[in-house]
Amino acid sequence: MGVSGNRSSAQALDWWRDAVCYQVYLRSFADGNGDGVGDLAGLHQRLHHLVDLGVDALWVNPWFPSPMVDGGYDVADYRAIDPVFGTLTDARALIEEIHALGLRILIDIVPNHTSSHHPWFREALAGGPDCVGRDRYIFRPGTGPGGDAPPNNWRSVFGGSAWTRIVEPDGRAGPWYLHLFAPEQPDLNWDSRLVRREFESILRFWFDLGVDGIRIDVAHAMVKAPGLPDLGPLDMELVASAAHADHPHWDRDGVHEIFRGWRAVADSYPEPRVFVAEACARNSERLARYVRADELHTAFNFDYLTAPWRAAHLRTAIGSSLTAMGAVGAPATWALSNHDVVRHLTRFGRPQPDGPVHTLANHSPPGPVDLALGTRRARAAALLMLALPGSVYLYQGEELGLWEVEDLPDETLQDPTWERSGRTDRGRDGSRLPMPWSGDAPPFGFSPERAGALPWLPQPPRWKQLTVRSQRGDERSMLELYRRALHIRRIHPALGDGALVWDRTAVPDLLSFTRPSGFQCIVNFGPQAVPLADHREVLLSSVRLQDGLLPGDAAVWLAR
Ligand code: NOJ
Repeated sequence: MGVSGNRSSAQALDWWRDAVCYQVYLRSFADGNGDGVGDLAGLHQRLHHLVDLGVDALWVNPWFPSPMVDGGYDVADYRAIDPVFGTLTDARALIEEIHALGLRILIDIVPNHTSSHHPWFREALAGGPDCVGRDRYIFRPGTGPGGDAPPNNWRSVFGGSAWTRIVEPDGRAGPWYLHLFAPEQPDLNWDSRLVRREFESILRFWFDLGVDGIRIDVAHAMVKAPGLPDLGPLDMELVASAAHADHPHWDRDGVHEIFRGWRAVADSYPEPRVFVAEACARNSERLARYVRADELHTAFNFDYLTAPWRAAHLRTAIGSSLTAMGAVGAPATWALSNHDVVRHLTRFGRPQPDGPVHTLANHSPPGPVDLALGTRRARAAALLMLALPGSVYLYQGEELGLWEVEDLPDETLQDPTWERSGRTDRGRDGSRLPMPWSGDAPPFGFSPERAGALPWLPQPPRWKQLTVRSQRGDERSMLELYRRALHIRRIHPALGDGALVWDRTAVPDLLSFTRPSGFQCIVNFGPQAVPLADHREVLLSSVRLQDGLLPGDAAVWLAR
């Protein structure tokens, strides 16, 4: 029998090394109070879905009070819950229930910038030119006649300049402040000791409340080069990534000292808390610097997430991540989607490019999507990812086979990218739609029956076939494939943390690897079916196997 034993690391202190963590995009998970927006009450009621699915932990996107200019990544108060989501008392009860169910919870901290509604920023504006509080942000005089031009040529990730000029309380034009994202998200000055102290205290606040870990938003942006030098031409083209070795605001060496301090805070708890960095670096070796033994625990793997559905690209991404992370003793992480990128089912339903997929936003779609092909590949991709050594992040709805909704009406779009790009880039709303739970028509059980409001983004009527209720128990469904895969992953001694060995194969479109104790994963990326060795037991396959053949765009798990 290939499946036996019961890994106990979910209970151990190093649970995070191979945890399967489910990303809850709170606004769209479940609406408990009927206002059309997901909330803590809704999440609390639907926790059984996560237990039933078989994940180990959940990561909840920002839940703090926020004007919601950037979906909550504009935080006005780091120690409270936005009323649209609930209260601190609700959060406390939720954390207790999560633990009672044997799950863990990670929350999202946004340290690179606050909301412009944060008391610190309000004070900095109201206090006039001599206000010491301005030192918590990055204010600089303008250039050119009258200081009318921004201090440098930095660009906002959401489009336009990264600088906005303020008006002083007496009505005169003042200095400019930096915002690498929306103008409503002023960047903090991490050279300020006060900023550093404040964030360590915020970490303690949530750790004391029982939160098991923290996802760090744009961890690679917090430190800026002294003197704020201009970007070079290549950086201007690749606004969102560190294109060269000495980028003035991405992946600077100074961030590591901050994270060493954070690690000490996490380690001071009897059950140490953990971090996952959202960090973009030029290569796996640079990324591995964030997860050295005295820094963060894990980091998201964007090389894997942006790899096209091609054997060679995925093998390279997997190999370089395992090597780089292994060199510092950290586990690799794997994810296919999140709230910032086009859902992978849609990406895989398009002709696959030769290089990394541009996922960050939904620029004009590069062609029609074959949803059946995307679904088939997404099934195989799930088996590939869940067989890899390390920890995994699932994005809510991928277990249902949700696709990117690319035809949302213009007037419903909320992502700041839409307006900041002059309405040329539709932004990320298409991956953030409310979950379909049950029923034949929107809101598909997302809000309580007879709720007063419509969901904050409209769901497509075709999601009727994808609700949790309609898939549960249907062994051909995506939901059942994920459930079975997660169940096997949990109990099979070969899966989770550890190593893999690539199998030699003469077929270029095949990826095949073995995990110790004879577990094998084979993925066929090509159009031709390939024969499977017949002495192996099939644990799970992404398609129905016939005549011992693995068809194209399919994956299988085998045991000796
Ligand atoms: C990364 C988050 O995932 C994204 O949603 C947000 O817009 C930016 N950071 C800015 O906070």
